[in-house]
Amino acid sequence: MIKPVIKWSGSKRSQSSKIKSFFPTSFGTYFEPFIGGGSMLYAVSPEKSICGDICKPLIDLWKEIRDNPDQLADGYSERWNRLQEEGYTAYYNIRDDFNANKSPYDLMFLSRTCVNGLIRFNDKGEFNNSLHYSRPGINPESLRAIIKDWSEHIQGSEFFADDYIVTTNSAKSGDVVYLDPPYFHTKGRYFGTIDYERFLEYLDDLNGRGIKYLLSFDGKRGEADYTVDLPKELYKRHEFLPSGNSTFKKVIDGETEKVFESLYMNY
Ligand SMILES: C[S@@+](CC[C@H](N)C(=O)[O-])C[C@H]1O[C@@H](n2cnc3c(N)ncnc32)[C@H](O)[C@@H]1O
Repeated sequence: MIKPVIKWSGSKRSQSSKIKSFFPTSFGTYFEPFIGGGSMLYAVSPEKSICGDICKPLIDLWKEIRDNPDQLADGYSERWNRLQEEGYTAYYNIRDDFNANKSPYDLMFLSRTCVNGLIRFNDKGEFNNSLHYSRPGINPESLRAIIKDWSEHIQGSEFFADDYIVTTNSAKSGDVVYLDPPYFHTKGRYFGTIDYERFLEYLDDLNGRGIKYLLSFDGKRGEADYTVDLPKELYKRHEFLPSGNSTFKKVIDGETEKVFESLYMNY
């Protein structure tokens, strides 16, 4: 499986090669307006892509991975060494720095040393996860190799801190858009929430513009079926993809359950 450079909740890492198999064989520009940890971007590795996310610190980090991989790896190494020498105060000082200045260098470090590697912000946009005491954080040279590998994969990608509608404004017939919005029924688990009606109008608009889309959407989780029925006229194909186990569930009650994700396509 792909080694993530940015660990992100809701990552499509375990499903990315399956989802990729449903992509059209050829297309123009690739758009991914809910980029998160970018697992589909890596799996598809398009020559040219336009990516976005409403979370600005995340987008700033993507730009550093693309443009300054070695400096970013050096920045991690310096902070990681500080943590080994000074202990937990280094982590909390760096977290304060991040919340004051939003430096992607601090975010890279926090994401690799916080509890379960979960990037988490409070309502004020402050990073609020704690230090993972029992783990040292990934070794700097291992992370450097991952950053450099991803950097090579995303040289043809542009990143925008914008709403999904804005990010895909320039898409045209022949282009493809992969959509992985936050779950509509679990408000607040991700950064930002999105309005369902506005999202349906958006899909209708993509159809009208002749743009192909693939949409990962609320699926079936264990016994409970959380499927939100997408209006039939908006898509042509609906698949259920097994996606491994729900780590979210595992954390809560110590057991795993099968998770299915919906994939809708308008072609
Ligand atoms: C399910 S996650 C995407 C995960 C990604 N596919 C991966 O593999 O890591 C959804 C993303 O949508 C972003 N988001 C929420 N509201 C948004 C909006 N209105 N426009 C663009 N992105 C938004 C969140 O910040 C989050 O990164």
